[in-house]
Amino acid sequence: MAGNFENHFLDDEIFGIVSAVAREKGMRAFVIGGFVRDCFLGRECKDIDIVVEGSGIELATAVGARVHSRVNVFRNFGTAMLRFRGMEIEFVGARRESYDRNSRKPVVEDGTLQEDQLRRDFTINAMAFSLQTEDFGSLVDPFGGIQDLAAGIIRTPLEPCRTYSDDPLRMLRAIRFATKLSTPELRFTIVPESLKAMGEMKDRMLILSRERIVEELNKILVTPKPSMAFQLLDETGLLEYVLPQLAALKGTETMEGKGHKENFSHTLEVLDNVAAAEIAAIAEGKLNDYDFEDGVETVKVRKSPNLWLRWAALLHDIGKPRSKKFDPQQGWTFHGHEHIGARMVPKIFQEMKMPLNEKMKYVQKLVGLHLRPIALVTEEVTDSAVRRLLFDAGNDIDDLMLLCDADITSKNPNKVARLHNNFVLVRQKLVEVEAKDEIRNFKNPITGEHVMEVYGIPPCREIGIIKDYVKDSILDGVIGNNFEEADALMRRKAEEIGLVPVK
Ligand code: CTP
Repeated sequence: MAGNFENHFLDDEIFGIVSAVAREKGMRAFVIGGFVRDCFLGRECKDIDIVVEGSGIELATAVGARVHSRVNVFRNFGTAMLRFRGMEIEFVGARRESYDRNSRKPVVEDGTLQEDQLRRDFTINAMAFSLQTEDFGSLVDPFGGIQDLAAGIIRTPLEPCRTYSDDPLRMLRAIRFATKLSTPELRFTIVPESLKAMGEMKDRMLILSRERIVEELNKILVTPKPSMAFQLLDETGLLEYVLPQLAALKGTETMEGKGHKENFSHTLEVLDNVAAAEIAAIAEGKLNDYDFEDGVETVKVRKSPNLWLRWAALLHDIGKPRSKKFDPQQGWTFHGHEHIGARMVPKIFQEMKMPLNEKMKYVQKLVGLHLRPIALVTEEVTDSAVRRLLFDAGNDIDDLMLLCDADITSKNPNKVARLHNNFVLVRQKLVEVEAKDEIRNFKNPITGEHVMEVYGIPPCREIGIIKDYVKDSILDGVIGNNFEEADALMRRKAEEIGLVPVK
């Protein structure tokens, strides 16, 4: 099906240039995939895929020469890429699959646009715009991608098992696109035969690298309502292959008539709450990102979702199955699940081949501390408890508060309202204490060098004892956070443990 559209999708100069160069070389070229889809969705897209009936590398090289851009060639994949005015343009030759008479293994060889479109993942991703002069900009949509896009349908051009066996990652891509493209007005659905094929082919997930799986998960997590994807992963049976520890949160148990919260759906609710609260806070410019490089801290107003905050939400209760106990008096308890969860985080990151750097430590910290702010709501809010929380959370206090607030889920609306209100008081208290004591970026006024100099001692455990004593006294409000009071306290403590100043 081809149709002419009165639109400005291909107004950018680069499309005219590719069109002219392709014509000179006697090649047929098309814009295909995500760019076309995003044009119809009204979303900005800076990645442009060009498919060529002929050599993608040859066309890219000629276009690169015309626009004076360097071309990166990936011979193994038969692709080439160049950058032009903030856009990334990738060129690939159209492919088709054919079957050798003597072998069941498919052979991939040069093909036409139609053949290439058949091999793509979803109808909404197989649409193309012609770059030929005679029908420049017309839509080539053989599988009704445009109708599927309007109706919110994810469907494969071929029989789903074939499309998914070509690349099983497409099962996760289907779930990602359904989640990402859904809006309050239009919920995208994956057609039933495709969902069924996923269930049948879930074992094929085993051939995928962890890195590719994580890339999809990360893209899912930063969507505005990521719970939809995890529900689909669960329904199709893919969750066990993606994150078995999360699948372990499923279900409830009842003993002596007492049940407990269903921790999987609770986690998904918290994840969506975090996403919504973060989006709102970003819109108001209320969140910052902190970066440390070469000892210098930079602070930037957050402009886009913090992926690692989403991971912290996803994993906040991951320690619950291992801490679960039944007590005839109290019912079900999950004591210490936050610490068990924090210990599980590095292992999960390692298994998933995710970074084991400060991002992992941030997630671990938030999981480990996620109950602390709410404890302040229910107990009396003392300055020293607030100081300790500020000290432990440091710059991550705002994200921790956001996670903890999002964690307030209950079927009882009065309880939720009461806890949220009390939470406002804790936030106020945090601001007051921080303004007064500056604990967030706490630096002990007493350094190890100072102790060594005053007492003429080499590095030894007494220094640690003195420094901890000073730190705890500041956090407990015994002394102020300043050098004079800290130095006086150091001298008293040192005398107590038998140290004598050299001067
Ligand atoms: N594609 C495919 N199968 C895959 C990956 C990609 O058929 N496993 C095709 C689709 O036609 C897709 C195009 O390659 O539209 C480009 O892929 P990619 O850049 O990964 O995705 P986009 O559709 O551009 O979307 P996004 O950038 O959001 O990932």
